[in-house]
Amino acid sequence: MTKILMVCLGNICRSPVAEGILKYKLKDQGLDDVFVDSAGTSGLHAGEAPDKRAVESARRHGVDISSLIARQFTAKDFDEFDYIYVMDKSNYENVLSMARSEGDKKKVKLILNCHEPGCDRPVPDPYWSGEEGFENVFNLLDCAADAIIRELKVKN
Ligand code: 4NP
Repeated sequence: MTKILMVCLGNICRSPVAEGILKYKLKDQGLDDVFVDSAGTSGLHAGEAPDKRAVESARRHGVDISSLIARQFTAKDFDEFDYIYVMDKSNYENVLSMARSEGDKKKVKLILNCHEPGCDRPVPDPYWSGEEGFENVFNLLDCAADAIIRELKVKN
């Protein structure tokens, strides 16, 4: 079982969308040996459902994230997960600051790097944006999920 964790700041906009898309694609392709979860570096929204705009944007694309519940990232997640995908540089620094070993650090990747090697483009925080920000997030994460699945297929 491969375990993948998606991480953003609040765990109510970007990472639940990333989790929902990847789960949808894995199921669609019959890949049932992968566990996917998400978390936020901040606990500010812990216990909350995803942002309504994120739920609506995902729903328009056929992905249901309405039942996900936000939680905060903890150092224990380094033990639990094989790959930790972060959305932006700030998430990257926050997660890395909690790493206890080189092994922990190696698990952390900027999510858009996986389909554009060497590029550290962020998934922009859509929280203060309009609907188009959420649409952009969905499209970026849709491509990223395809790239992650391609990598999983190569590794297994
Ligand atoms: P996320 O978006 O990190 O993609 O979940 C945000 C959610 C909440 C806040 C910022 C970003 N906030 O400031 O409350």
